[in-house]
Amino acid sequence: MPNDTSASPLRDLADARGFYVGAAVSARPLREDAAYRDLLAREFNMLTCENALKFGPLRPTPDQFAFDNADAIVAFAEAQGMAVRGHTLVWHSQMPEWLEEGVLGYDSSIDLIRSHIQTVTKRYRGRIGVWDVVNEAFEDNGRWRDTFYLRKFGPDYIKMAFHWAHEGDPNAKLFYNDYNADGLNAKSKAIYRMVKRLLGEGVPIHGVGLQVHLLLGHVPSTRAIAANVKRFNRLGLEVHITEMDVRVKTPVSESDLREQAGVYGDIIRICLRAKNCPALVVWGVTDRYSWVPDVFAGYGAPLLFDEQGREKPAAAALRANLQP
Ligand code: XIL
Repeated sequence: MPNDTSASPLRDLADARGFYVGAAVSARPLREDAAYRDLLAREFNMLTCENALKFGPLRPTPDQFAFDNADAIVAFAEAQGMAVRGHTLVWHSQMPEWLEEGVLGYDSSIDLIRSHIQTVTKRYRGRIGVWDVVNEAFEDNGRWRDTFYLRKFGPDYIKMAFHWAHEGDPNAKLFYNDYNADGLNAKSKAIYRMVKRLLGEGVPIHGVGLQVHLLLGHVPSTRAIAANVKRFNRLGLEVHITEMDVRVKTPVSESDLREQAGVYGDIIRICLRAKNCPALVVWGVTDRYSWVPDVFAGYGAPLLFDEQGREKPAAAALRANLQP
């Protein structure tokens, strides 16, 4: 069949509909594992740095920027014609120790963080189209998360960060990103209220990232997720699925993988039907390098391709939904 797309790479199907299917990329396998590189280039038309652009990894010391890994990942994306999401400028985790444990006062901290955000966004101007400017500022109950930034500056750090990122790259789309905020709950409500307020204050914010780190069997209702995506559309904001994975209790059965595929199918359908959800990024290329087994003991197999890089039912589910 000349037009048989049933085995087409995800990125070709996505390209044809103006959609992005992305993956988080880690510098080490990108360097060392040719099969990883091939799979990434074949199946995805967007990528994000899993760790390389975070504050701590980028700033081993106050006067040093370690751009090598991020540069290599962004160069790979450019060579392969992939879009790039930048992750992430302001986050309580993976901070430089020298900053978190340092004794800088208010003014010097502001100077340092402003210049960090501006240096990074400027460096990748025109190459990183979207930034997760602030990551995970809320607790699940909708209160501000108690972080270095909150303690030092109060909640104003959020708008400051968006302004600085905008100064660094006026053309980049700027996102707020969080987890456990996929459906309708206290956290997603707090995010909705915050971004609405920021828009009212003229803060440059263009979208909300839903991480969608899910646990099989505990997935929020698709209606709630769709409603959440839609309410951001009413504010004129895009939504990206930024870090999707669906972890499964090990040992993993065939029926688990089929159920997992159903979840991936549900999420991509929400995006394809929404007016404002043009990107679905998964948090890793294959199960082999996923963060899940390291962080959630007894869980694994959360992604689209297995440890050997073979396609799982989840990838087939995305492909089926992307068919023309
Ligand atoms: C994780 C990475 O996958 C790990 O390699 C790292 O050790 C810790 O961070 N939410 C986020 C991501 O926004 O940055 C996190 O990534 C996963 C949870």
